[in-house]
Amino acid sequence: MLLTEEKTVLVIGLGLIGGSVATGLRENMPGLQLLAADSDRQQLELASRRGVVQAVSTDAAELVSRADLIMVAVPPLSIASVLQQIYKNMKPTAVVTDVASVKGPVVEAARTALADRIARFVPGHPIAGSEKSGFEAADGRLFDGRNVLVTPLAESDPDAVAMVNSLWRVLGARVLGMSVARHDQVLAATSHLPHLLSYALVDVLVKNQQNDDIFRYAAGGFADFSRLASSDPTMWADIFISNAAATTRVLDDYIKHLNLLRDALETQDHRLLRETFVSAKSVRDKFVRKYSGAMKPEQQVEMKQIDYHAAPGGSIQGVFRVPGDKSISHRAIIFGSLAEGVTRVSGFLEGEDALNTLTAFRDMGVTIMGPEDGTLSIYGVGMHGLQAPGRPLYMGNSGTAMRLLAGLLAAQAFSSELTGDSSLSSRPMRRIADPLASMGATIQTAGGGTPPLRITGSPLQGIRYRMPMASAQVKSCLLLAAMYADGETCISQPAVCRDHTERMLQGFGYPLNENRETGEVCLRGGGTLQATAIDIPGDISSAAFFLVAAAITPGSRLTLEHVGVNPTRTGIIDLLRLMGADISSVNAREVGGEPVADLQVTYAPLRGIDIPEGLIPLAIDEFPALFIAAACAEGITRLRGAGELRVKESDRLQSMAEGLAVLDVQHELHADGIDITGGKLGGGTVDSHGDHRIAMAFTVASLRSTRPIVIRDCGNVATSFPGFIELACNAGIQVQRIDHGAGVETGSRGE
Ligand code: S3P
Repeated sequence: MLLTEEKTVLVIGLGLIGGSVATGLRENMPGLQLLAADSDRQQLELASRRGVVQAVSTDAAELVSRADLIMVAVPPLSIASVLQQIYKNMKPTAVVTDVASVKGPVVEAARTALADRIARFVPGHPIAGSEKSGFEAADGRLFDGRNVLVTPLAESDPDAVAMVNSLWRVLGARVLGMSVARHDQVLAATSHLPHLLSYALVDVLVKNQQNDDIFRYAAGGFADFSRLASSDPTMWADIFISNAAATTRVLDDYIKHLNLLRDALETQDHRLLRETFVSAKSVRDKFVRKYSGAMKPEQQVEMKQIDYHAAPGGSIQGVFRVPGDKSISHRAIIFGSLAEGVTRVSGFLEGEDALNTLTAFRDMGVTIMGPEDGTLSIYGVGMHGLQAPGRPLYMGNSGTAMRLLAGLLAAQAFSSELTGDSSLSSRPMRRIADPLASMGATIQTAGGGTPPLRITGSPLQGIRYRMPMASAQVKSCLLLAAMYADGETCISQPAVCRDHTERMLQGFGYPLNENRETGEVCLRGGGTLQATAIDIPGDISSAAFFLVAAAITPGSRLTLEHVGVNPTRTGIIDLLRLMGADISSVNAREVGGEPVADLQVTYAPLRGIDIPEGLIPLAIDEFPALFIAAACAEGITRLRGAGELRVKESDRLQSMAEGLAVLDVQHELHADGIDITGGKLGGGTVDSHGDHRIAMAFTVASLRSTRPIVIRDCGNVATSFPGFIELACNAGIQVQRIDHGAGVETGSRGE
């Protein structure tokens, strides 16, 4: 249920936030019925005089029964009594929300006051206040481009969540979801503590010094720091009482830190002061640029100037997990968003690629809570519930996201644009644009058939299509379009490639016909998806770097737990075993329709092989890692029929050949493959070409290199493998991350 002009909205509390909501709604939805209640008659009169509201009362109970959406915008400690008044008179279908800066106690009060109507309550918090207060300060554009945090409860109705989401979208805000507990922790540090400090500083200075002089001669610093102390005192006293525990925790840390700085002043420790300030400044500068909205995501590359410095030698030991599967993470968001009901996801990959997909669906009106420790709750909007995004959807480095979304967007009732970073902007899109066009889609690419993609949503017809290459992205793109197409779509593939889309469709209850003999998959348009739970296994493509690391390094012994071993992804295990690697799979089980196992690797000498062509699509992302194994094997490894590697995040045949040349590894490059002769690995500086898997492959190579390896341009490792350096160091690779953007160094063994 969305907020439309036929609805009636009641705002209780016409302060800065409530007043700005009412004013913004009036400006954006002239036909909307708007009611307001406030204990202060003057605020109500002002709102009526400005033509913002149609009816007002000092008693909210009088207006409640007329409202479809009730916004409670009073100070936190008054919320409980307001909710009690609401409960008695609210329509059963009405939705209730609030704007408080603290959520735990508000939710507790709501559970008592709203009792059996609690599913209609969706807590919210716009990050858009200012030190001003009262309706006179109200500004209908206050929320434009700002974030609003919603913290739906386990029992919140998805349609109530959708209503609150649409309210904030009307006001131009972006809706982010998080849990109540996380919200209160985060806000204690980012908002509550700074307010407390500001009030305290003004109070201390005013009591200890000549009052007037402070303000008369106040330098900019005092003016900046004391701004927050002009905020509404009742509201802030309420907030601190309501979030006392979380604020006390950060306050204690702060006091400890202040004492350190105090000691540094006493001991004239210039170095400590300077180091503290350098690190604080660089972190703040970086994050202000990133989050201030001034910088578009595509401009953030300069912040990813990261090199790896890997020292030679080491061995691999340990038992650990790699982050969640990237392919499945993208798909979980896509299908969860289109489903009916709430999809709960665990094991989600918090890498940049999947996070861009998450942002894209938020931009299309889907409320998504998280990620928090790998979990997401996706409030599905149904097959036809997506809304036009207000800006181009930025897919970062991800071909998967762009191609899959293109299929989905081609069938929507709105137009959209998909953009990406420089690598993605040079990748081929005709492979999806052509078959989509034959379904009736209108997609415009740039001159060379590359992004950006401009998509005009249109009705689609089912097709029968044989893919020229074994591509899961193309197959998935067409299956997404096919769900909206008239009739049946059948897709066949020249070789088996990953089938996560087919498995997930079945998990969401969408009927599908798969012919295992011909490899054809058929789907009829017009079905629906039912929300489900998804437990995402570890990504075998990330595990591959450690499988190879242990396989090439004498003395290694490694267990990788909970790795996805879908047979359409395990080509790397088969290939390494063919080369003589000692890999065993234990504890095999199925989790949410995907096979999972623990993989154990013990070092054994490797030998070169001729790579069977049928295994190429099953190991398509693992060749950079495999080439390092080949460089450490005895004899020659030959690969042919792998031209697809030239159109990945970089031209992986070329990028790997260049790096192997730096390491003095004998090799011969071919149009669709490479021959690699195993031997000694030297060292030097390797360019990853911004390709995450090239960067990680050469990091692993250092285990067997005779000299250090410097790998340039590694920022994109964050697209697929956040925490790679820490995990690599713990496992036994001696690597350091040099962050030129922030001047910060992390990693190296033992840290
Ligand atoms: C993927 C499919 C593969 C793979 C990519 C992820 C997917 O691409 O290389 O990293 O999630 O469908 P192609 O379909 O282009 O081979």
